[in-house]
Amino acid sequence: MSGFNRQAHWQQVYNEKGENQVSWFQERPAISLELMEAVGAALDSAIIDIGGGASRLVDALVENDYRDLTVLDLSESAVSIAKKRLGRRAATVKWIVADVTQWEPPTTYDLWHDRAAFHFLTGESDRIAYIERLMKAPRPGGHAIIGTFALDGPERCSGLPVVRYDGALLSISLGSAFALHDTRRHDHKTPWGAIQHFQFSVFRRI
Ligand SMILES: C[S@@+](CC[C@H](N)C(=O)[O-])C[C@H]1O[C@@H](n2cnc3c(N)ncnc32)[C@H](O)[C@@H]1O
Repeated sequence: MSGFNRQAHWQQVYNEKGENQVSWFQERPAISLELMEAVGAALDSAIIDIGGGASRLVDALVENDYRDLTVLDLSESAVSIAKKRLGRRAATVKWIVADVTQWEPPTTYDLWHDRAAFHFLTGESDRIAYIERLMKAPRPGGHAIIGTFALDGPERCSGLPVVRYDGALLSISLGSAFALHDTRRHDHKTPWGAIQHFQFSVFRRI
């Protein structure tokens, strides 16, 4: 995809479609919340949502009194939508507009969450850059929850090609610094009723 401007693409998507006209919209990110609880995320755990976009995960976490939340996304428009929705509560969250493949994590996190961002990295150099950040960000013993389209999921999303995974393939991709702890299939229903097969895998930073 030579000449492709990733940031411009995502800005346009959120400017044109807003929050709930996109295939990945979820009213309540139940599987992410369930997995976060399963790994024992504490109210003071440092949690980062990579490619969080305008997701309502942050709302649910704020609502549940998690205190150390960061949302990173390439699209300023997506982040603005989430901030606006949260209103005054947005001030309790750290917001980062950046490309994860170029970002330098300023600190370590207890929990790295990514629903449907990593799978857009179809080039090996981008995946390597992502994994380098992932190596630095969760502290040893910390966790990463990564949701992607499953092997029988869609081949494209938002007009872009994706790489599809199951837990084993994702584990090979991330390398030996991450132990696969749990993997689940998940059926996501789009706002127009189509079913998309996802996988969500949980890794522990060794
Ligand atoms: C399919 S959406 C999922 C959004 C959100 N995680 C959710 O579940 O609603 C993918 C998101 O990843 C973001 N994204 C794509 N590539 C990215 C990158 N290289 N760095 C940071 N964010 C990225 C997009 O802006 C978009 O918000």
